[in-house]
Amino acid sequence: MIHALDALLDRTILPGYTRAGYHLRKICWAGEDPAPGALRGRTALVTGAGSGIGAAMATRLAALGAVTVLAVRDLGRGERTRHQIRTAVPGADIRLVRCDVAEPDSIDACADALSAEFRTLDILVHNAGVLPVERAENSRGHELTLATHVLGPLRLTDRLVPLLGGSGDARIVFVASGGMYAQPLPIQDPEYRRGEYHGATAYARSKRIQVAVTPLLDQRLADHGVSVHAMHPGWVRTPGLTASLPRFSSALRPALRTAGQGADTAVWLTATTPAPMSGHFWHDRHIRPEHYLPRTRYSEEHLLSIWQYCRGAAGMRAA
Ligand SMILES: NC(=O)c1ccc[n+]([C@@H]2O[C@H](COP(=O)([O-])OP(=O)(O)OC[C@H]3O[C@@H](n4cnc5c(N)ncnc54)[C@H](OP(=O)(O)O)[C@@H]3O)[C@@H](O)[C@H]2O)c1
Repeated sequence: MIHALDALLDRTILPGYTRAGYHLRKICWAGEDPAPGALRGRTALVTGAGSGIGAAMATRLAALGAVTVLAVRDLGRGERTRHQIRTAVPGADIRLVRCDVAEPDSIDACADALSAEFRTLDILVHNAGVLPVERAENSRGHELTLATHVLGPLRLTDRLVPLLGGSGDARIVFVASGGMYAQPLPIQDPEYRRGEYHGATAYARSKRIQVAVTPLLDQRLADHGVSVHAMHPGWVRTPGLTASLPRFSSALRPALRTAGQGADTAVWLTATTPAPMSGHFWHDRHIRPEHYLPRTRYSEEHLLSIWQYCRGAAGMRAA
């Protein structure tokens, strides 16, 4: 019965992604939370950890015992978040590193700083996200949502392979979005150069790429003992959602999830034992379909062509 309800929530999307969906599905997880101290001795990095879901994830990872690194582009904001986490989790070991995930030089500097500070990295959450109003590019000429959600995470992962490989059970999570269900892979135009630009479309296309490349990255990193997951947090009340989709956010306000509820599945993916099946798209601790519309399906050839494009544009060396 509960599984039929879960599937129904999945397909009706809106109720499933609200806090009502979270509470209903939570019934299935009773007693299955990661044990206290589950991440003691482990090191976690969360990008975009200065606010919203990223800050909530960092708080939970720290509460489970991980040394938690906040990767932020604004160190002042990061410092405030670090203070809040230390207040909520006394004794938490919270580090701060500057990382603009849309900028290759910043990513490389971040990876160098981490390599100097740590011997291993066990958890890497690609959470930083953006929904621009107008088309913008990073300093290398890549469209901003592609750079932020795909190219930056691929480059950061690539530069951190030596640290991740030292873990033995490293877990990477892409914070994707159910918004991707509306968009196919942008095979002909990955940089969104053609047609009128809509930030929400760019956002959904880049989130589609995140989910599509998850199994490829997972296969390529398996020999290093690294697993890769993608997840959707639900519709969550955060500064980002309020700023980028104000009408949607205010219409759904009472039904939106808290940041902690949005963070739940990503934290669970990193902390649960045995390790969850990798290479998949998760929501509320279950693997979910990657397509609801026939028009979003793609061939292996198209997937490999977008992978090769992104791999090259990200400047990946290892995987
Ligand atoms: N809220 C939702 O309903 C929802 C639904 C589906 C998916 N998501 C995903 O969840 C993730 C977190 O979003 P949120 O809702 O928590 O929004 P948020 O509060 O705006 O958090 C996004 C974070 O990403 C950071 N960021 C943006 N661009 C960055 C860059 N180039 N380098 C480093 N950090 C950068 C932001 O930092 P600044 O403060 O410096 O801007 C901010 O801290 C995103 O990937 C988003 O797409 C959210």
